[in-house]
Amino acid sequence: MKLRELLIPPIFGIAPPGLVMPPPELRARLEERQRNRDRASTGLAHRVKPGEVDLSHGVILYLDDITVSFDGFKALNKLSLAIDSGELRSIIGPNGAGKTTLMDVITGKTRPDSGHAFFGQTLDLTRLTEPEIAIAGIGRKFQKPTVFEHHTVFENLELAMKADKRVRRSLLAELGAEARERIAETLRLVRLDSEGGREAGLLSHGQKQWLEIGMLLVQEPKLLLLDEPVAGMTDEETERTAELLKSLAGKHSLVVVEHDMAFIRQLGGKVTVLHEGSVIAEGDMQTLQGDPRVIEVYLGR
Ligand SMILES: Nc1ncnc2c1ncn2[C@@H]1O[C@H](COP(=O)(O)OP(=O)(O)OP(=O)(O)O)[C@@H](O)[C@H]1O
Ligand SMILES: [Mg+2]
Repeated sequence: MKLRELLIPPIFGIAPPGLVMPPPELRARLEERQRNRDRASTGLAHRVKPGEVDLSHGVILYLDDITVSFDGFKALNKLSLAIDSGELRSIIGPNGAGKTTLMDVITGKTRPDSGHAFFGQTLDLTRLTEPEIAIAGIGRKFQKPTVFEHHTVFENLELAMKADKRVRRSLLAELGAEARERIAETLRLVRLDSEGGREAGLLSHGQKQWLEIGMLLVQEPKLLLLDEPVAGMTDEETERTAELLKSLAGKHSLVVVEHDMAFIRQLGGKVTVLHEGSVIAEGDMQTLQGDPRVIEVYLGR
């Protein structure tokens, strides 16, 4: 199937040439998804302006006293956390500490029972929908890479850019020079510049992870959330990933969750330790390694 055909949602009754109409159930689902998107984008005009985050106080993310309960069990318990603009922050803690739940709250997937969550000074994350939060400039990478295996690396970045509602239509009409340049620059950044024409399915696991980071980067997020980005990577790939993330800090703010302590050490920067849904310590890795509480709940295991 041609790339162009994939990009035209076949929900308007007429299928583009060569595209088979989807079965009714699938069609209903696609229509529902389109309605949700339309709803989100209508709300946007007065709710979120793309990428306009008020960073006047130097803080990009501010969580205060957040509690999330699942059937009475507190996955997050009065959690407070502030991330500076341009910061690279690592979050560690034992299984079940609430790290992924924390990311779910930031991206609007899970609503907290109580507490405040702000993106910059003005955007209340607890009142925005998931698409609005993405449009405001928060990108998230899940653990398992989800690239389009049968498309080339370049096409993957192109698709990610086209999925981004904030990109001007004129920029995308026929992938103009500006869009091409952004893709080329991203390929260099994630060290896939010699793989642009390769089918994504043929990349190594590590390269797929980088491609997915690239797919987030073409959407130019202000804040990037990465859940266990080096799981399954070789030592060399892990080191390269640390270099990549360090190079992104400053222009972007990053929150990285990982169990790989060698990687966390390579990242440097501030580390937050989560335990039973709360922050129990914060500091550089060297200090935390000597903290009896941190050793007891996590590092000493
Ligand atoms: N949708 C849910 N329903 C019920 N319980 C949940 C749900 N999501 C998370 N939990 C529970 O909340 C706790 C925190 O889970 P979370 O996935 O945030 O931990 P984590 O720190 O990411 O752990 P890991 O390091 O294993 O990924 C766990 O006890 C988990 O079972
Ligand atoms: Mg997790």
